[in-house]
Amino acid sequence: MNVDSLNDIASAIVSPGKGILAADESSPTIKKRFDSIGVDSTEENRKNYRNMLFTTEGVNKYISGVILFDETIRQQSPSGLPMVEVLTKAGMIPGIKVDKGAKALANASSETVTEGLDGLRERCQEYVSLGAKFAKWRAVIKIGPNIPSDLCLATNAHALARYAALCQETGLVPIVEPEVLMDGPHDIDQCELVTENALKALYHELHQQRVVLEGTLLKPNMVISGTECPQQANVEEVAQRTVACLKRSVPAAVPGIVFLSGGQSDDVATLHLNSMNTNTNDLPWKLSFSYGRALQAAPLKAWAGSNIEKGKEAFMMRAKANGEACLGKFK
Ligand code: 13P
Repeated sequence: MNVDSLNDIASAIVSPGKGILAADESSPTIKKRFDSIGVDSTEENRKNYRNMLFTTEGVNKYISGVILFDETIRQQSPSGLPMVEVLTKAGMIPGIKVDKGAKALANASSETVTEGLDGLRERCQEYVSLGAKFAKWRAVIKIGPNIPSDLCLATNAHALARYAALCQETGLVPIVEPEVLMDGPHDIDQCELVTENALKALYHELHQQRVVLEGTLLKPNMVISGTECPQQANVEEVAQRTVACLKRSVPAAVPGIVFLSGGQSDDVATLHLNSMNTNTNDLPWKLSFSYGRALQAAPLKAWAGSNIEKGKEAFMMRAKANGEACLGKFK
């Protein structure tokens, strides 16, 4: 394993003022997004939409890397270049989602485990040959009456750690994503407790599987009130409690933490990240973003199936805002 090379990639992804565009929606998810603007989810439309994002002039000032879906990493852009080359030419690092989704976990009603370990070594090797430099695997943790169970946390952490070890063996930087969902009436205390438990289970398993933390990135949720909680924590509280939770759970050897947006509105996701980076300057890791919806909601709507210029303009605005939030300079 080339630890220096893994660390170089991870550090480049979280270089100052930059973060990740998560454009790795699976086919059912991108269909849902396209349905919301009344556009058919054809291969052609998916290609044109994603190519619009990737060819936004100057966006590499704020976007260091892009997570792709299997279809996209094999696709040619409308100009005939492989999508991976479109990204590298524009100064962005291509990454790939390698998990196969969250499936029902046996003996745990309503909880899931993320699958995709079988054949993963070979798939990673192929993705490296196609140009990928980093990978993503998302575990899903629900909060509800009596859940998450220890079984769910341990099983997902184990799968994340086995994925991370295989990635590092093939030269891919693993992004480990244990997402605690924000859906539900729970309060911020509950989110903090579950997030801390999930992170501690994860770092225990990463250690067991001999994963080199210097060559990884963490993609967590923020510590936030449940969507149906009557008492919503404000921006400062979310920032302060998220940072406190991470300090208790994430080793200092990890180069960067790139948050998911998880259904927060794009403005709120930016404000939370900005507040964390404004009020703290003694952190061992960079705090940045790996947003899907919070970066794409505006450009998706502006594009509406054909308006490329408006789409690019909206994407640039969101990318710039989040780039500034990484530096605590968003106004
Ligand atoms: P959201 O920012 O929309 O949560 O997506 C990020 C992601 O990649 C989830 O796996």
